[in-house]
Amino acid sequence: MDWLALMEGISLERLGSLHLVLLHLPIGFVVAAGLLELSRWRRPTADGAIYQRRLLAVNAVACLLTVGAGLVLASTGKYPAETLEWHRWAGLVCAGLAVAAWLAQARGRVVAARVALAALLAATVVTGHLGATLTHGPEVANFRVSARSGEAVKPVQSPAIASRTVSSNVFEKEILPILDRSCIECHGPDKMKGRLRLDSRAAALAGGRSGRPAIAPGKLEASELLRRVRLPRDDDEAMPPGDEPGLSVAEIAALDEWIAAGAVWR
Ligand code: HEC
Repeated sequence: MDWLALMEGISLERLGSLHLVLLHLPIGFVVAAGLLELSRWRRPTADGAIYQRRLLAVNAVACLLTVGAGLVLASTGKYPAETLEWHRWAGLVCAGLAVAAWLAQARGRVVAARVALAALLAATVVTGHLGATLTHGPEVANFRVSARSGEAVKPVQSPAIASRTVSSNVFEKEILPILDRSCIECHGPDKMKGRLRLDSRAAALAGGRSGRPAIAPGKLEASELLRRVRLPRDDDEAMPPGDEPGLSVAEIAALDEWIAAGAVWR
């Protein structure tokens, strides 16, 4: 096994994006533990206590892993700082309560375990809500599924995300920063590598040396820019080239979505 290649493949970003998958586990466990506790309230059984202890143990571990991945994801700096800050604290509170509920249950402190579980349910709702207003993530994940399966490229949107798309200017907030940071130095007024400029819509539509449009509005497959940013990092044609960090999954998905929606420039 080529460990070096494996380690290179596991970027921090990918590790962090595990958060978006993991987070569903504690939500499921907490709801299950809440339901079990309700049924135990009516008819307490020894088995029930054992199941609850195991459930809370697994939940505590899932919470800690989710928070760990979340902290890594937060450090990628792609999320609005203020909401992120609240979401981070709420997530840490969740992890603390999850561990407390488990320890209390394991020591047979029924009341303490119930209080911790109730608080954990509430904290989970708050954390989930803050997380939903933050994410990019689910929007991105949903979008990529539909883009892959070749269906209409309309992202599956939650109401919170839909209103975000309407109320903010995607090009200015998401696309321009990517181009400015990663592409313009070589595809702008100073240098025109590959005879391509990416500082105006007309230039991007015209494309460069290859003759293919860098951006073909509404046509993901025909957009050379997308093909280049999606190439494996060690491909000679990958953009940005060389040792520069590649675009993140979220950034590529944002470009996808923007081009699918017609590549509105401003
Ligand atoms: C360090 C300089 C550099 C950076 C940064 C850079 N490129 Fe390039 N790009 C090049 C060079 C050199 C070529 C020509 C060689 C080639 O086609 O691979 C090129 C070619 C291209 C082409 C093909 C043009 C054509 O039609 O032949 C596209 C599309 C492209 N780049 C997109 C991008 C995008 C998108 C980014 C930002 C994510 C980016 N590049 C960042 C240097 C750069």
